[in-house]
Amino acid sequence: MSEISDKKVFVTREHIIPDAIAHLKQFFDVAVWEERSAPPREVMLQKAQENDAIITEITDLVDKELLDKAPRLKIVANRAVGMDNIDIDEATKHGVLVSNTPGVLHESCADFTFGLMLSVARNITYGDRQIHAGEWKMFDQIPYLGTDVHGTTLGIVGMGLIGTAVARRARAFDMKVLYFSRTRRPEVEDQLGVEWKPDLDSVLSESDFVSLHVPLTAETEHIIGARELDLMQPHAFLINTTRGPTIDAGALYLALKAGTIKGAALDVTDPEPIPIDDPLLTLPNIVISPHIASASSSTIKKMGMLTAQNVIGALSGTQMPSCLNPEASKGA
Ligand code: GLV
Repeated sequence: MSEISDKKVFVTREHIIPDAIAHLKQFFDVAVWEERSAPPREVMLQKAQENDAIITEITDLVDKELLDKAPRLKIVANRAVGMDNIDIDEATKHGVLVSNTPGVLHESCADFTFGLMLSVARNITYGDRQIHAGEWKMFDQIPYLGTDVHGTTLGIVGMGLIGTAVARRARAFDMKVLYFSRTRRPEVEDQLGVEWKPDLDSVLSESDFVSLHVPLTAETEHIIGARELDLMQPHAFLINTTRGPTIDAGALYLALKAGTIKGAALDVTDPEPIPIDDPLLTLPNIVISPHIASASSSTIKKMGMLTAQNVIGALSGTQMPSCLNPEASKGA
Protein backbone atom coordinates (compact mmCIF):
# COMPACT_ATOMS: atom_id res chain seq x y z
CA MET A 1 0.00 0.00 0.00
CA SER A 2 1.33 3.43 -0.76
CA GLU A 3 -1.57 5.84 -1.16
CA ILE A 4 -3.63 7.64 1.37
CA SER A 5 -7.05 6.12 1.34
CA ASP A 6 -10.22 7.62 2.77
CA LYS A 7 -10.43 4.83 5.34
CA LYS A 8 -10.64 6.08 8.89
CA VAL A 9 -8.72 4.64 11.81
CA PHE A 10 -9.23 5.53 15.48
CA VAL A 11 -6.50 4.80 18.03
CA THR A 12 -7.65 4.73 21.65
CA ARG A 13 -4.29 5.83 23.11
CA GLU A 14 -1.88 8.12 21.28
CA HIS A 15 1.10 7.93 23.62
CA ILE A 16 1.52 4.14 23.61
CA ILE A 17 2.26 3.47 19.93
CA PRO A 18 3.54 6.67 18.25
CA ASP A 19 5.61 4.78 15.64
CA ALA A 20 2.65 2.67 14.58
CA ILE A 21 0.46 5.76 14.35
CA ALA A 22 3.03 7.58 12.20
CA HIS A 23 3.19 4.52 9.94
CA LEU A 24 -0.59 4.28 9.60
CA LYS A 25 -0.87 8.01 8.83
CA GLN A 26 0.92 7.34 5.53
CA PHE A 27 -2.07 5.33 4.37
CA PHE A 28 -5.19 6.30 6.30
CA ASP A 29 -7.05 9.12 7.95
CA VAL A 30 -5.95 8.46 11.54
CA ALA A 31 -7.51 10.06 14.62
CA VAL A 32 -6.20 9.48 18.13
CA TRP A 33 -7.43 9.80 21.70
CA GLU A 34 -4.85 12.14 23.19
CA GLU A 35 -5.42 11.50 26.88
CA ARG A 36 -3.53 8.83 28.77
CA SER A 37 -6.69 7.32 30.20
CA ALA A 38 -9.13 5.28 28.12
CA PRO A 39 -11.75 7.08 26.06
CA PRO A 40 -15.11 7.15 27.85
CA ARG A 41 -17.72 4.70 26.66
CA GLU A 42 -19.73 7.33 24.74
CA VAL A 43 -16.60 8.27 22.78
CA MET A 44 -15.96 4.62 21.96
CA LEU A 45 -19.53 4.20 20.73
CA GLN A 46 -19.25 7.31 18.57
CA LYS A 47 -15.86 6.31 17.16
CA ALA A 48 -17.09 2.81 16.40
CA GLN A 49 -19.81 4.37 14.30
CA GLU A 50 -17.45 6.62 12.33
CA ASN A 51 -14.38 4.48 11.70
CA ASP A 52 -13.26 1.58 9.54
CA ALA A 53 -10.69 0.44 12.12
CA ILE A 54 -10.18 0.87 15.83
CA ILE A 55 -6.94 0.11 17.63
CA THR A 56 -7.80 -0.90 21.17
CA GLU A 57 -6.02 -1.46 24.45
CA ILE A 58 -7.10 -4.23 26.83
CA THR A 59 -9.25 -1.85 28.85
CA ASP A 60 -11.40 -0.91 25.85
CA LEU A 61 -14.53 -3.02 25.84
CA VAL A 62 -15.76 -4.16 22.43
CA ASP A 63 -19.16 -5.78 22.91
CA LYS A 64 -22.45 -6.27 21.09
CA GLU A 65 -23.68 -2.78 21.94
CA LEU A 66 -20.62 -1.19 20.33
CA LEU A 67 -20.63 -3.53 17.34
CA ASP A 68 -24.34 -2.88 16.72
CA LYS A 69 -23.47 0.79 16.30
CA ALA A 70 -20.57 0.18 13.91
CA PRO A 71 -21.84 -0.34 10.34
CA ARG A 72 -18.57 0.53 8.61
CA LEU A 73 -16.19 -1.02 11.13
CA LYS A 74 -14.01 -3.64 9.47
CA ILE A 75 -11.39 -4.38 12.12
CA VAL A 76 -10.73 -4.12 15.83
CA ALA A 77 -6.97 -4.45 16.29
CA ASN A 78 -6.11 -5.13 19.92
CA ARG A 79 -2.62 -4.04 20.98
CA ALA A 80 -2.29 -7.10 23.17
CA VAL A 81 -2.04 -10.82 22.89
CA GLY A 82 -5.02 -11.27 25.23
CA MET A 83 -8.45 -10.53 23.79
CA ASP A 84 -10.87 -10.95 26.67
CA ASN A 85 -12.00 -7.32 26.23
CA ILE A 86 -13.47 -8.22 22.84
CA ASP A 87 -16.54 -10.33 22.15
CA ILE A 88 -15.06 -12.21 19.21
CA ASP A 89 -18.22 -14.21 18.45
CA GLU A 90 -20.23 -11.00 18.18
CA ALA A 91 -17.50 -9.39 16.07
CA THR A 92 -17.63 -12.37 13.71
CA LYS A 93 -21.42 -12.11 13.46
CA HIS A 94 -21.03 -8.43 12.63
CA GLY A 95 -18.37 -9.18 9.98
CA VAL A 96 -15.70 -7.38 12.00
CA LEU A 97 -12.19 -8.82 11.99
CA VAL A 98 -10.31 -9.00 15.29
CA SER A 99 -6.55 -9.20 15.66
CA ASN A 100 -4.07 -9.51 18.52
CA THR A 101 -0.27 -9.47 18.81
CA PRO A 102 1.17 -12.96 19.34
CA GLY A 103 4.77 -13.82 18.57
CA VAL A 104 6.37 -10.53 19.60
CA LEU A 105 5.96 -10.36 23.36
CA HIS A 106 6.50 -13.88 24.71
CA GLU A 107 10.21 -13.45 25.44
CA SER A 108 9.63 -10.22 27.38
CA CYS A 109 6.79 -11.85 29.32
CA ALA A 110 8.96 -14.86 30.11
CA ASP A 111 11.78 -12.61 31.38
CA PHE A 112 9.26 -10.87 33.60
CA THR A 113 7.85 -14.15 34.90
CA PHE A 114 11.30 -15.07 36.14
CA GLY A 115 11.64 -11.59 37.61
CA LEU A 116 8.47 -12.17 39.61
CA MET A 117 9.55 -15.65 40.74
CA LEU A 118 12.90 -14.39 41.94
CA SER A 119 11.41 -11.28 43.55
CA VAL A 120 8.90 -13.16 45.63
CA ALA A 121 10.95 -16.26 46.43
CA ARG A 122 14.14 -14.39 47.33
CA ASN A 123 12.41 -11.49 49.08
CA ILE A 124 13.87 -8.92 46.71
CA THR A 125 10.75 -6.77 46.68
CA TYR A 126 10.05 -7.38 50.35
CA GLY A 127 13.59 -6.30 51.22
CA ASP A 128 13.25 -3.20 49.07
CA ARG A 129 9.92 -2.34 50.76
CA GLN A 130 11.53 -2.72 54.18
CA ILE A 131 14.44 -0.44 53.23
CA HIS A 132 12.09 2.25 51.91
CA ALA A 133 10.11 1.98 55.14
CA GLY A 134 13.29 2.65 57.14
CA GLU A 135 13.33 -0.87 58.57
CA TRP A 136 16.89 -1.92 57.57
CA LYS A 137 18.63 -1.06 60.78
CA MET A 138 21.41 -3.65 61.07
CA PHE A 139 23.11 -6.44 59.15
CA ASP A 140 20.75 -9.37 59.70
CA GLN A 141 19.82 -11.67 56.82
CA ILE A 142 17.54 -13.91 58.82
CA PRO A 143 14.29 -11.92 58.33
CA TYR A 144 14.93 -12.08 54.60
CA LEU A 145 15.75 -15.76 54.15
CA GLY A 146 14.31 -16.82 50.82
CA THR A 147 13.52 -19.93 48.85
CA ASP A 148 15.87 -21.04 46.09
CA VAL A 149 14.47 -21.04 42.60
CA HIS A 150 17.19 -23.19 41.00
CA GLY A 151 16.74 -26.91 41.14
CA THR A 152 13.03 -26.76 42.00
CA THR A 153 9.93 -27.88 40.10
CA LEU A 154 8.05 -25.39 37.99
CA GLY A 155 4.46 -26.07 36.96
CA ILE A 156 3.34 -24.23 33.86
CA VAL A 157 -0.39 -23.89 33.21
CA GLY A 158 -0.84 -23.15 29.51
CA MET A 159 2.02 -24.13 27.20
CA GLY A 160 1.61 -21.52 24.47
CA LEU A 161 4.40 -19.25 23.26
CA ILE A 162 4.82 -17.57 26.65
CA GLY A 163 4.69 -20.82 28.63
CA THR A 164 7.28 -22.30 26.27
CA ALA A 165 9.58 -19.29 26.66
CA VAL A 166 9.30 -19.65 30.44
CA ALA A 167 10.10 -23.37 30.19
CA ARG A 168 13.20 -22.55 28.12
CA ARG A 169 14.47 -20.19 30.82
CA ALA A 170 13.71 -22.78 33.50
CA ARG A 171 16.34 -25.08 31.97
CA ALA A 172 19.05 -22.56 32.85
CA PHE A 173 17.82 -22.71 36.45
CA ASP A 174 18.05 -26.53 36.47
CA MET A 175 14.35 -26.74 37.10
CA LYS A 176 12.13 -29.70 36.41
CA VAL A 177 9.16 -28.46 34.39
CA LEU A 178 5.67 -29.96 34.51
CA TYR A 179 2.83 -28.58 32.43
CA PHE A 180 -0.88 -28.79 31.90
CA SER A 181 -2.32 -27.31 28.74
CA ARG A 182 -5.45 -27.53 26.61
CA THR A 183 -3.23 -28.73 23.77
CA ARG A 184 -0.46 -31.22 24.46
CA ARG A 185 2.87 -30.04 22.96
CA PRO A 186 5.05 -33.08 22.14
CA GLU A 187 7.57 -30.93 20.27
CA VAL A 188 8.13 -28.79 23.38
CA GLU A 189 8.42 -31.97 25.46
CA ASP A 190 11.11 -33.24 23.08
CA GLN A 191 12.99 -29.96 22.81
CA LEU A 192 12.88 -28.83 26.42
CA GLY A 193 12.33 -32.04 28.36
CA VAL A 194 9.14 -30.78 29.97
CA GLU A 195 6.66 -33.29 31.35
CA TRP A 196 2.97 -33.19 30.43
CA LYS A 197 0.39 -33.88 33.11
CA PRO A 198 -3.13 -34.89 32.14
CA ASP A 199 -4.72 -32.73 34.83
CA LEU A 200 -4.20 -29.41 36.52
CA ASP A 201 -4.35 -30.96 40.00
CA SER A 202 -1.12 -32.93 39.47
CA VAL A 203 0.73 -29.79 38.36
CA LEU A 204 -0.55 -27.90 41.39
CA SER A 205 0.33 -30.59 43.93
CA GLU A 206 3.77 -31.47 42.50
CA SER A 207 5.22 -28.00 41.81
CA ASP A 208 7.25 -25.59 43.92
CA PHE A 209 6.30 -22.74 41.60
CA VAL A 210 3.10 -22.59 39.57
CA SER A 211 2.95 -20.06 36.74
CA LEU A 212 -0.24 -19.26 34.84
CA HIS A 213 -0.09 -18.68 31.07
CA VAL A 214 -3.64 -19.29 29.90
CA PRO A 215 -5.86 -16.69 28.23
CA LEU A 216 -8.87 -15.51 30.23
CA THR A 217 -12.00 -17.30 29.00
CA ALA A 218 -15.16 -18.62 30.62
CA GLU A 219 -13.22 -21.87 31.28
CA THR A 220 -10.18 -20.25 32.86
CA GLU A 221 -11.96 -17.68 35.03
CA HIS A 222 -11.07 -18.63 38.64
CA ILE A 223 -9.12 -21.63 37.39
CA ILE A 224 -7.28 -21.13 40.68
CA GLY A 225 -9.67 -21.01 43.63
CA ALA A 226 -9.68 -22.28 47.21
CA ARG A 227 -9.64 -25.95 46.18
CA GLU A 228 -6.69 -25.48 43.82
CA LEU A 229 -4.72 -23.43 46.35
CA ASP A 230 -5.29 -26.20 48.88
CA LEU A 231 -3.72 -28.67 46.46
CA MET A 232 -0.52 -26.62 46.29
CA GLN A 233 2.32 -27.29 48.70
CA PRO A 234 2.77 -24.97 51.71
CA HIS A 235 6.22 -23.94 50.48
CA ALA A 236 4.97 -23.23 46.93
CA PHE A 237 4.55 -19.92 45.09
CA LEU A 238 1.89 -18.87 42.60
CA ILE A 239 2.81 -16.55 39.71
CA ASN A 240 0.27 -14.84 37.46
CA THR A 241 1.04 -12.81 34.35
CA THR A 242 -2.18 -13.57 32.45
CA ARG A 243 -5.34 -11.82 33.65
CA GLY A 244 -6.44 -11.18 37.23
CA PRO A 245 -9.73 -13.09 37.09
CA THR A 246 -7.94 -16.41 36.47
CA ILE A 247 -7.41 -16.39 40.26
CA ASP A 248 -10.10 -16.05 42.92
CA ALA A 249 -8.47 -13.13 44.74
CA GLY A 250 -10.44 -13.69 47.97
CA ALA A 251 -9.31 -17.31 48.12
CA LEU A 252 -5.73 -16.25 47.39
CA TYR A 253 -5.78 -13.76 50.26
CA LEU A 254 -6.99 -16.44 52.68
CA ALA A 255 -4.41 -18.96 51.41
CA LEU A 256 -1.52 -16.51 51.76
CA LYS A 257 -2.64 -15.44 55.21
CA ALA A 258 -3.14 -19.00 56.43
CA GLY A 259 0.14 -20.26 54.95
CA THR A 260 -1.62 -22.67 52.58
CA ILE A 261 0.97 -21.46 50.08
CA LYS A 262 4.12 -19.49 50.77
CA GLY A 263 3.75 -16.54 48.43
CA ALA A 264 2.39 -15.11 45.23
CA ALA A 265 3.58 -12.73 42.56
CA LEU A 266 1.00 -11.09 40.35
CA ASP A 267 1.40 -8.85 37.34
CA VAL A 268 -2.38 -8.81 36.96
CA THR A 269 -5.16 -8.26 39.47
CA ASP A 270 -8.93 -8.19 39.59
CA PRO A 271 -9.82 -5.36 39.36
CA GLU A 272 -7.06 -3.28 37.79
CA PRO A 273 -5.69 -1.07 39.14
CA ILE A 274 -5.87 -2.90 42.46
CA PRO A 275 -7.48 -0.56 45.03
CA ILE A 276 -5.07 0.67 47.68
CA ASP A 277 -7.27 -0.81 50.43
CA ASP A 278 -7.30 -4.30 48.86
CA PRO A 279 -6.48 -6.85 51.59
CA LEU A 280 -3.82 -8.45 49.35
CA LEU A 281 -1.74 -5.29 49.78
CA THR A 282 -1.51 -5.88 53.53
CA LEU A 283 0.43 -9.13 53.09
CA PRO A 284 4.23 -9.39 53.23
CA ASN A 285 4.40 -12.51 51.05
CA ILE A 286 3.10 -11.02 47.83
CA VAL A 287 4.62 -9.03 44.99
CA ILE A 288 2.34 -7.08 42.68
CA SER A 289 3.29 -5.19 39.54
CA PRO A 290 1.04 -2.96 37.40
CA HIS A 291 0.37 -5.27 34.42
CA ILE A 292 3.70 -4.69 32.70
CA ALA A 293 5.01 -8.17 31.80
CA SER A 294 5.19 -7.35 28.09
CA ALA A 295 6.12 -3.72 28.59
CA SER A 296 9.72 -3.34 27.49
CA SER A 297 10.32 -0.39 25.19
CA SER A 298 11.39 -2.65 22.37
CA THR A 299 8.45 -5.05 22.69
CA ILE A 300 5.83 -2.32 22.92
CA LYS A 301 7.09 -0.96 19.59
CA LYS A 302 6.84 -4.40 18.01
CA MET A 303 3.31 -4.80 19.35
CA GLY A 304 2.38 -1.43 17.90
CA MET A 305 3.81 -2.21 14.48
CA LEU A 306 2.13 -5.63 14.39
CA THR A 307 -1.16 -3.97 15.30
CA ALA A 308 -0.63 -1.49 12.44
CA GLN A 309 0.12 -4.35 10.02
CA ASN A 310 -3.15 -6.00 11.02
CA VAL A 311 -5.05 -2.79 10.30
CA ILE A 312 -3.32 -2.39 6.94
CA GLY A 313 -4.08 -6.00 6.02
CA ALA A 314 -7.75 -5.70 6.97
CA LEU A 315 -8.36 -2.37 5.27
CA SER A 316 -6.49 -3.23 2.10
CA GLY A 317 -7.81 -6.77 1.82
CA THR A 318 -4.32 -8.25 2.06
CA GLN A 319 -2.88 -10.73 4.55
CA MET A 320 -3.34 -9.87 8.23
CA PRO A 321 -0.44 -11.24 10.30
CA SER A 322 -2.62 -12.31 13.24
CA CYS A 323 -6.33 -12.41 12.64
CA LEU A 324 -8.41 -14.23 15.25
CA ASN A 325 -11.56 -14.62 13.15
CA PRO A 326 -10.76 -14.69 9.41
CA GLU A 327 -14.24 -16.09 8.82
CA ALA A 328 -15.61 -12.62 9.65
CA SER A 329 -14.17 -11.04 6.52
CA LYS A 330 -16.70 -8.85 4.71
CA GLY A 331 -14.31 -8.60 1.79
CA ALA A 332 -12.09 -5.55 1.28
C1 GLV B 1 -1.17 -7.94 27.85
O1 GLV B 1 -1.73 -8.17 28.87
C2 GLV B 1 -1.46 -8.63 26.63
O2 GLV B 1 -2.44 -9.38 26.58
O3 GLV B 1 -0.72 -8.44 25.66
